[in-house]
Amino acid sequence: MREERSFHEMMQRYNQELLQMRQRSQSRPESAAKRESSAAKPQTPPAAQIAFPGRVEPPAPRPCRQDRPQDHSLTVGPNGPVLVEDTLLHETLETFVHTKIIERAVHTKGYGAFGHFQPYRCMAEYTTACFLQDPSRRIPTVTRFSFAVSNKGTPDTSRNVRGFSTKFYLEHGVFDLLCNHIPVFLIRDGMRFPEAIASLSPSPVNNLPDGRLFWSFLARAPEATHFLTWLYSDAGTVASFRTMRGYGVNTYVWKNAAGRRRYVKYHWIPAAGERCIDAATAERLACENPNAAGQDLWDTLAGGATVEYELNVQLMDPEREKALPYDPLDDTKVWDEEAFPLMPVGKLTLERNPEDYASQVEKLAFSPANLVDGIELSNDKMLQGRSFIYWDAQRRRLGPDFRSIPVNHMENWKPADAFSPTGLGRSACGEQVRRDIERADDFTQAGERYRRLPGEQRAHLVENIAADLSHAAQKDQACVLGYLRQADEAFAQQVRAAMPRG
Ligand code: HEM
Repeated sequence: MREERSFHEMMQRYNQELLQMRQRSQSRPESAAKRESSAAKPQTPPAAQIAFPGRVEPPAPRPCRQDRPQDHSLTVGPNGPVLVEDTLLHETLETFVHTKIIERAVHTKGYGAFGHFQPYRCMAEYTTACFLQDPSRRIPTVTRFSFAVSNKGTPDTSRNVRGFSTKFYLEHGVFDLLCNHIPVFLIRDGMRFPEAIASLSPSPVNNLPDGRLFWSFLARAPEATHFLTWLYSDAGTVASFRTMRGYGVNTYVWKNAAGRRRYVKYHWIPAAGERCIDAATAERLACENPNAAGQDLWDTLAGGATVEYELNVQLMDPEREKALPYDPLDDTKVWDEEAFPLMPVGKLTLERNPEDYASQVEKLAFSPANLVDGIELSNDKMLQGRSFIYWDAQRRRLGPDFRSIPVNHMENWKPADAFSPTGLGRSACGEQVRRDIERADDFTQAGERYRRLPGEQRAHLVENIAADLSHAAQKDQACVLGYLRQADEAFAQQVRAAMPRG
């Protein structure tokens, strides 16, 4: 942690020196007296300029080079060999190497912003969660937007699932809300996660994109049909995080003081309205600026504007679960918004860019297990599969002390605050099995989504699937078309008709 701070301080000092030097070299020759007095006084550069090392313009050449001993390795004579005992050289190079942290296994590319959350009213009727009790309280937050299957060079407008994770800094720990911008996932059991992600990743043979992998997975995963109708619609291509929704995807539990539990699904709704783009625009933007969404977010906040999202929840009494035609704990399903209306809870306001990307965004460690009293995990299989893997990923990525990294906790944090109980008092008994859920129903909601899309968007969905599916192996094409047929006969026919004949 100390190293992190000193690196950060070093960068700030460096930027400050750089700006001071530039200002000195720019001052006009006729005001020599002024120049002297300004050199004597330490100058404070404008905050926006020193705020973020990455934003400082490339260093201008030093006007006159000062030869300092610490710029040279320790050698035997000016041309002699470098001594092993040169601890300064070791420290300089090793610090450089160690500041490069391991990338996230998924959601690798991302951007961050700080802000606050404020509930509209007390939610005690539904949950004891401390940050949802007092509408006069502003809760500090940090949000990271990301791309689920990405590397650092993935274009921001690529067809992808976008992540939208928010950390709420509370008095006794943190609450993390991890969302995606598509409301359903492509699998319902964590066991298939590695296989699903591999199918969306570049070929393991040559690291080049290979669309056949995804269709081959889809042919083996009919539960992904609903997800397909989202990813391949215009919802899969978004130009700005400011106009994007966030969905918790999995089902959590809210518990009130009387011990009453309700299922809960989270939704972030952008105040600026929702907007997506078509495939052609996404491709054009990818060429023009692969970091278009990150730039848009940065420029908005740097320009002094804020970005707002309203938190809404859908609540469900677990007693209604059995009567539904679908399993509400299946993350390949959405809950009907008429039966389970969206309830506004509060507002998230993003207001500040990070000052140091490495320590404030790369080192962020989100987990669906970072919960508070009043919020629990449900029996959603996928959520339970996720509940431990994030901490493990972070132990590997950031080290065993990842929780003590400043951006991951409140000022007054103590390690003992890290854990909050979930599920205490619930009972579970039954036969141990490894099998699919009982109400799988992989196609009804896929068909409903296809029929509900407005004309032009439905046409885009068909075109986008057809263009990609035409590269798949014939047996996989047949399987996928079979799934689309089960969702809606016309859907399958249109995709078939739009596929270029090979
Ligand atoms: C069993 C299934 C899943 C597994 C094993 C899994 C695993 C992971 C891992 C290892 C990370 C990187 C963590 C880190 O290094 O900090 C991650 C990030 C993330 N996951 Fe999952 N994930 C799963 C499903 C989901 C689902 C259903 C969602 C939907 C909300 C989701 C949303 C995210 C988000 C938004 C991030 C990025 C967090 C950040 O910005 O740092 N994941 N996931």
